[in-house]
Amino acid sequence: MTEELSDYIAQFLAGLEADGHLSDPLWKQAFGAVPRHVFLPSFFLSLPDGRWQAIDTTHPAYWRMVYSNTTLTTQLDGAVGPDPDDGTLSGTPTSSSTQPGLMALMLDALRLSGGELVLEIGTGTGYNAALLAHRVGAPNVTSVEVDPGVAKLARQRLSSLGDWPSVVTTDGGRGWRDNGPYDRLIATVSVPTVPPAWLEQVRDGGVIVASLWRDLGGGPLVRLEVNGGSAQGFFLSEAGSFMPVRTCLQVPTPLSTALTQTGSRRQTRHSSTVLHHPDAGLWLALRVQSANWLGFTPDGGNEQMWLFAPDGSWAVVDDTAGQVEQFGPRELWDEVEAVYDRWREMGTPTRDRLGLTVTNAGGHRIWLDSPDAVVWNEIVA
Ligand SMILES: C[S@@+](CC[C@H](N)C(=O)[O-])C[C@H]1O[C@@H](n2cnc3c(N)ncnc32)[C@H](O)[C@@H]1O
Repeated sequence: MTEELSDYIAQFLAGLEADGHLSDPLWKQAFGAVPRHVFLPSFFLSLPDGRWQAIDTTHPAYWRMVYSNTTLTTQLDGAVGPDPDDGTLSGTPTSSSTQPGLMALMLDALRLSGGELVLEIGTGTGYNAALLAHRVGAPNVTSVEVDPGVAKLARQRLSSLGDWPSVVTTDGGRGWRDNGPYDRLIATVSVPTVPPAWLEQVRDGGVIVASLWRDLGGGPLVRLEVNGGSAQGFFLSEAGSFMPVRTCLQVPTPLSTALTQTGSRRQTRHSSTVLHHPDAGLWLALRVQSANWLGFTPDGGNEQMWLFAPDGSWAVVDDTAGQVEQFGPRELWDEVEAVYDRWREMGTPTRDRLGLTVTNAGGHRIWLDSPDAVVWNEIVA
């Protein structure tokens, strides 16, 4: 390792530690030993205009970016990889190397002691699988990836480091029975509901750490203990967002359609910032399903926050005027304000007081402090 590289890695570790992400010395050792750059010979940098520029090792900021606490996108639209000859591109990220601080948070939540059998859902670059392999031994790690091209690159990069975990190309929703039952399952791609296959493939007493996909965001990360075909546990105290599994993106009403319609107006009771509240935001994302939001400022007008649903409903909140306009079968802003009121009536609980039970039948029950104190049963769209 060159002196320069070891400096970048030392700064990387110091930054993660300063942010409180590497309290376990064994994870610190793993992040210090597994070179992130091996998994990221190139990646996309997001530009202020929403486009992407490919960066590789020849870029002057390459090393600083690889060894930073940043998510680095490695694929757009399920097909396009980073190639500096392509110029700037538009597209939606479909594979990435997760923000290392978020990786550390989730890895820590697995509470490994060494030697556990681990299943990872969403191999991506393979960096997380390599960290797991460093901690529990490569033969104990299985990682599944839906995209064959992404899986192939991950296999190549993992094998260049020596012993490598098994990378299987399959839909992670089905898990991978062959190498189980597992002691731990970690999903680095978001799922709308915890798939029944995961509950079957993790042994009793085993742990699932996963991110739930909700259209409003909210960063729901959950740590569940599996028992007798069901699983339960608390949401983590920090939020974290992942891309969704490649099957659950909804197409909401386009803004251009909404602009030609007229809805009913009233004064708002709460500002649109409630959607981004660290604790209430989780309740809203879990409770107000099938609705996306978008910030928009019309020429010469006030900043607006739009909510859209696939059934054609929309709401637009103007915080400056304290007004909302709503249209369609769902009154989306009424839904948001009602959930926010409920969160306040319950004493403004922090997000880590909320828990999830995944029943044998696959249903989601949300509770506060204790599994008996059910606040609602989730109907996931
Ligand atoms: C955020 S990346 C994972 C990051 C990765 N763990 C790493 O260390 O680089 C999410 C990955 O999940 C994959 N993915 C999406 N849907 C999936 C599915 N249904 N099953 C398995 N993998 C999936 C994507 O192709 C993408 O590579």
